[in-house]
Order: sequence, then structure tokens, then C-alpha cells
Amino acid sequence: MIDLRSDTVTKPTEAMRRAMAAAEVDDDVLGHDPTVAALEARVAAVLGKESALYVPSGTMANQLALRSHTESGDEIICEQDSHIYQYEAAAPAALSGCLLRLIPGQRGIFSASQLAEVFHPSGEVNNHAGTQKLVVLENTHNRGGGSIWPIEQIAAVELTARDAHLRLHLDGARLWNASVATGIPEAEYAKHFDSVSVCFSKGLGAPVGSALAGEAAFIRRAKRFRKQFGGGMRQAGIIAAGALYAMEHHRERLAADHANARLLAQRLMEIKGLEVDIEGVQTNMVYFNTLTLPAAELVSRLERHGVLVLATARNRIRLVTHLNVSAADMDTAAKAIGRAVAGG
Ligand SMILES: Cc1ncc(COP(=O)(O)O)c(C=O)c1O
Repeated sequence: MIDLRSDTVTKPTEAMRRAMAAAEVDDDVLGHDPTVAALEARVAAVLGKESALYVPSGTMANQLALRSHTESGDEIICEQDSHIYQYEAAAPAALSGCLLRLIPGQRGIFSASQLAEVFHPSGEVNNHAGTQKLVVLENTHNRGGGSIWPIEQIAAVELTARDAHLRLHLDGARLWNASVATGIPEAEYAKHFDSVSVCFSKGLGAPVGSALAGEAAFIRRAKRFRKQFGGGMRQAGIIAAGALYAMEHHRERLAADHANARLLAQRLMEIKGLEVDIEGVQTNMVYFNTLTLPAAELVSRLERHGVLVLATARNRIRLVTHLNVSAADMDTAAKAIGRAVAGG
């Protein structure tokens, strides 16, 4: 099977498994696991933040950030296709009691003036609206096609947000991909935000875990909510070791995933009946529309050809490259897609 459903399907390598098996561990809820501490220190250093917290998932990292920045009744501004809105089971409402104010972006990216447009009238005592507290950006943007926020646009959005006394959180589940693609270090992106979440279990290939980074006082607050949300883990060093290994050994190689995505997209452009968003292929994702058959039908035909892909809408399919697929697999997958679209 060539599994292109997501970069979350990656399996730990032998070397990663060895690092995990050898990890020193202790009770991290009591604050004594040395491997978790080492991972948190490394993440904080790479992101240029005071402190970081290891958590079970990207969803928890984001939701801890929202909970720690806000109070019930607050408003959080984000893009309408953002992961926190589309795919986190309405957690901002359920866990933080917050309303999401949505901005329609271009491949998940919006401008500073679009942000200013959703501000409540300033200076007005307003008992009718939620209190706007936080702006959330996603880089790379998943439903945007793995698109990258231009750094100048982040800076402009930050300026507008700060003028309105808003805080900023970055959903950086795939920030590693943005950095490798642009050459802009993670910390350069992170400096525009009060908090940043990153994932180890996507392109980096670790089996479990994400982290939230920010100022020390903010992370102390998030740590209390992590316990409240049930995310305190005991001998977590065994999985943190996989994450640490992934950070040190699998970041640079993301460039190969990006090259494979471009290769795949170019091959798919040759297939009649598909509309490929080639400009949107900026990192490790390829999205295309099916013009002649429903996406679900193509997904099941492809499964018979040994290729797994994900339908994200009635006529839209997503493919994601990662460390368990090769350039040769791109060729095999493109041929299978061609045959499946043609009815084979
Ligand atoms: C942009 C983005 N943020 C957050 C998450 C959530 O990560 P998890 O599946 O670990 O909860 C994902 C998952 O795919 C994602 O793509």
C-alpha cells in the first residue's frame, strides 16, 4: 500500500525505536522525567521561547493555548478553514467557552486589513459582543493545501493584532515544513506569537506528541489545564525520546517530501478529469478536484490499486507525502490515479 492519506500515518524508524527503548524515564506528572524535560528544553530553544510543554496531541496543544489565553465568553479570531475550527470537535466552545470569529482566507491566509474588518468598534462600551482576545494563525495551513504564510504578512497581522491589544497563537503543527521550504528558522516565525504549538507525529515521523511553547508564566498556566484536560502523562520519556529523535534527525529531510509532492502534482496535471491546485503545492500536500466522478468513488477505486488517499469534500482529494513514501511511489501512485479516473 502507498499511504498518502496523511503525514500522521508514518511509522517510527528502527533508529527512532532504539532511541525510545533506551530513554531514561520517570514520573512526568511529578515533574521528574528527564527525557521529557530535555525535549521541552529543546523545543523552547528551537522556537526561541522561554518554556515548552509536551502534550499528547496537536489538538491538545492548540486547545491548551486557547484555554490559557482566554476566559469563557471571549472571542477568538481565526481563518475559516483553520484546524481549530474545522477539526477539533468544537473544542473551543466545549473546553474554553469561546466563540470563533471567522475570516475567509486565500489558501488559509488572510491580510491585516481583513483582520481589522472583524474588530468590534473600538472605544465603544459594548455589552453585546464577545471580548476579542486572541488571533490564531496556522502555518503551514492544512486545508489551505500546506500553504505557507509569507513572513511579512505575519508581521503585518501581528502589528494590527497588537494595536488592538490582542494576543497571537500559532498552530504550527507543520511549522517545520514552512521553515525547511523557506529557510526561515522556526524562531523567526515564532517571535510574532505569544504561543506556538508544534507536532512531532506528522512529517517528523514520531509516533506520539506535540508541544506548546511560550513565556514561562503562560506555560505554567497551560500545565495546570493539561492536568485538568487529562493530558498529564507519567513515564512519557519513552515517547518523548521519539519526538526528540525526530527533531534532531527528520527536520532537514522534509525537503524530500516537498520535492515528492511537486513531482506527484506535476504527474497529476497530465491526467484528464482532474483539476490540480499546482500553485498551492508549497510543502508536502497536493489537493485536486475530481471533475468526472465523486471523490469517494475515486478513493475506493484507488484502494483497489493499493493507493490510499483522503476525500476532504465531495469532489476534493488530498494527498500527503512523508518519510514512508519515495519518489518511485509518486510514479506508481500517479499511474494508479490515472487508471482509476479512467474507470479502471
Ligand atoms: C494544522 C493542524 N493542527 C493541529 C492538528 C491536530 O493534531 P492531532 O491530530 O495530533 O490532534 C492537525 C492534525 O492533522 C493539523 O493538521
